[in-house]
Amino acid sequence: MSGRVAGKRVLITGGAGGLGQAMAWMMAREGARVAISDIDGAAAERLANAINAEIAGAAVAYAHDVRGEDDWARVVEVAARELGGLSVLVNNAGVGGPLAFAEDDTVENWQRQFEINLRSVMLGCKHAMPHLRQAAPASIVNISSLAGLVAAPGMGAYNATKAGVWMYTKTVALEAAKNDWNVRCNSVHPVFIRTPILDPFTAMAGGDEARAHERLARGIPLKRIGEPDDVAYCVLYLASDESRFVTGAEFKIDGGTTAQ
Ligand SMILES: NC(=O)c1ccc[n+]([C@@H]2O[C@H](COP(=O)([O-])OP(=O)(O)OC[C@H]3O[C@@H](n4cnc5c(N)ncnc54)[C@H](O)[C@@H]3O)[C@@H](O)[C@H]2O)c1
Repeated sequence: MSGRVAGKRVLITGGAGGLGQAMAWMMAREGARVAISDIDGAAAERLANAINAEIAGAAVAYAHDVRGEDDWARVVEVAARELGGLSVLVNNAGVGGPLAFAEDDTVENWQRQFEINLRSVMLGCKHAMPHLRQAAPASIVNISSLAGLVAAPGMGAYNATKAGVWMYTKTVALEAAKNDWNVRCNSVHPVFIRTPILDPFTAMAGGDEARAHERLARGIPLKRIGEPDDVAYCVLYLASDESRFVTGAEFKIDGGTTAQ
């Protein structure tokens, strides 16, 4: 198989969702074998079947809740066995929460976002690292958000968890470098991208998706929200050996938003 990630064995969490799907297709078309894990195991299975119909044997699927350490241990072991090793981990699963100012926010909201957005990244790095070291050169790609670098009113839990992902990425990058493991670790920070995670904004616009997206695009110099492939192209680069000298770095996929 030829391609920019030929021979790579990739695990993508939350892989059945908007960004995860785009990444899975792109990796498979560029020569990787892909394990798609998602809390929605049936959706992950449907995606793997669709990919395999085009590229036989390229994808496998697992039901996987990134909140659970036992689940992580199981999925990493099975994926490494079925794919013949693990050379790329994409920590992609994540959720937004209800918008809430500090005085109205809840411990439940923080707990949920902390477990799914941030603690999951630690568990993924912990359990995948022994396999990644074995398969080096290897790469961890953590999907943070522009909201991990720039704050917004009402987004406390999301801002804090995504900022945690940004900094934790650097810690892991330095640990791997210090030990000469040849495992890179980088974070990706998208602005608004057209996926179901934007549905609450559509609801706020009375169900009018085009109007909601037009509103979100107003602060973006390139005058549109992003498409899933805009993020997947960056993840493809970070998964491939083209990024062999890149670690501990953050990549903003924001249409120029933070250049202003
Ligand atoms: N779309 C955007 O505008 C945007 C912008 C910045 C960052 N992000 C980040 O990108 C990542 C992917 O988001 P998306 O836009 O594809 O969202 P999405 O809602 O389309 O997909 C998220 C996926 O994660 C899965 N998931 C949810 N909870 C899970 C859990 N506990 N365990 C395992 N899987 C779980 C869902 O089933 C879903 O398939 C998230 O980390 C998100 O925070 C998205």
